Amino acid sequence: MRFVVTGAAGFIGSHLAETLRARGDDVVSVDCFTDYYDPAEKEENARGLDVLRIDLADETLDLDGVDGVFHLAGQPGVRSFGEAFPLYLRRNVLATQRVFQSSAEAGVRVVYASSSSIYGEAERYPTPEETVPRPISPYGITKLACEQLAHAYSTGFGLDAVALRYFTVYGPRQRPDMFFRRVCDLLLGGGTFEIFGTGEQSRSFTEVSDAVRATIAAMDGAPAGATYNVGGGTEASMLEAIALLEGVSGRALDVRHVDRARGDVARTRADVSRIAADLGWEPRVPLADGLSRMWAWASARVATP
Ligand code: NAD
Ligand code: UGA
Repeated sequence: MRFVVTGAAGFIGSHLAETLRARGDDVVSVDCFTDYYDPAEKEENARGLDVLRIDLADETLDLDGVDGVFHLAGQPGVRSFGEAFPLYLRRNVLATQRVFQSSAEAGVRVVYASSSSIYGEAERYPTPEETVPRPISPYGITKLACEQLAHAYSTGFGLDAVALRYFTVYGPRQRPDMFFRRVCDLLLGGGTFEIFGTGEQSRSFTEVSDAVRATIAAMDGAPAGATYNVGGGTEASMLEAIALLEGVSGRALDVRHVDRARGDVARTRADVSRIAADLGWEPRVPLADGLSRMWAWASARVATP
């Protein structure tokens, strides 16, 4: 099979492209190497992939001979108020609209990255997909807009778009703005970690290989237009997570509490019964094992720059 992976130089997209290639698929990797974080890291992620440098907000994807599109390109990060918002609109809403248009015209399935952030402070935990979405970050609003666009393209053009609401993904190559990555970098290099608020906020952390497995299973087997939560099995608070990483690394982290960040939800906990029933997917990697893998990657990266 021949697939397009957008965002292939990013954290999750690079793992996805590699896994698809390893199972024998032909992968067209697309990314425009935005400077949200150091593009040199994206070059590192994309090593071994031949990435087409296309800005999806401007340029059109050629989907001739393609069997499906994995659309992971986007502007991530929930702390998204202020000056950055036009970038969120462009890289999430506009780019996704253009990918949906091309996919609808080509008649191919799109599996795309949505987010747990569309729920905001959810009405119930664990949170099932039918929960009313009430995002509290501008980022979450752009991700919800993408889901609404999918609905419009499905109604107007019969587009088959499958939404994956990823819950805080971690593992090797995690973005440098994210929690575990910052903790690892500071445990390795020294310095003080700034924790937003009390540290009691919690997440359904999802290991990247679990996220990739769900993504491929969705392309291969999801019913048309499905929406799935993709969340890890263990909910942990940031303080618990720091303690786990301190245990794995054998080092102590210097922590300072700063104000809670706007747009940051107090809790996520995924109800994954729908994806389990439809696709037989369940998270496999326990948090402690995933953190060991991530620590091994982060320390090797520092050892061999
Ligand atoms: P990432 O920033 O590492 O990867 C996204 C990639 O998209 C980047 O390499 C960037 O250069 C590329 N990109 C952005 N705009 C583009 C454009 N207009 N044209 C071409 N390429 C463009 O982020 P990630 O953490 O790997 O996230 C991947 C996707 O999953 C994103 O859509 C994100 O919103 C979503 N998501 C991530 C998480 C998470 O925990 N990491 C959770 C929920 C949803
Ligand atoms: C993550 C991704 O960054 C989003 O792109 C994604 O859409 C979202 O998951 C999701 O699940 O949908 P977040 O949960 O905020 O968002 O992930 P982290 O950046 O790893 O933060 C986790 C927690 O650590 C948050 O409560 C945050 O406030 C806290 N944190 C993060 C700190 O206290 N200090 C930091 O320096 C970074």
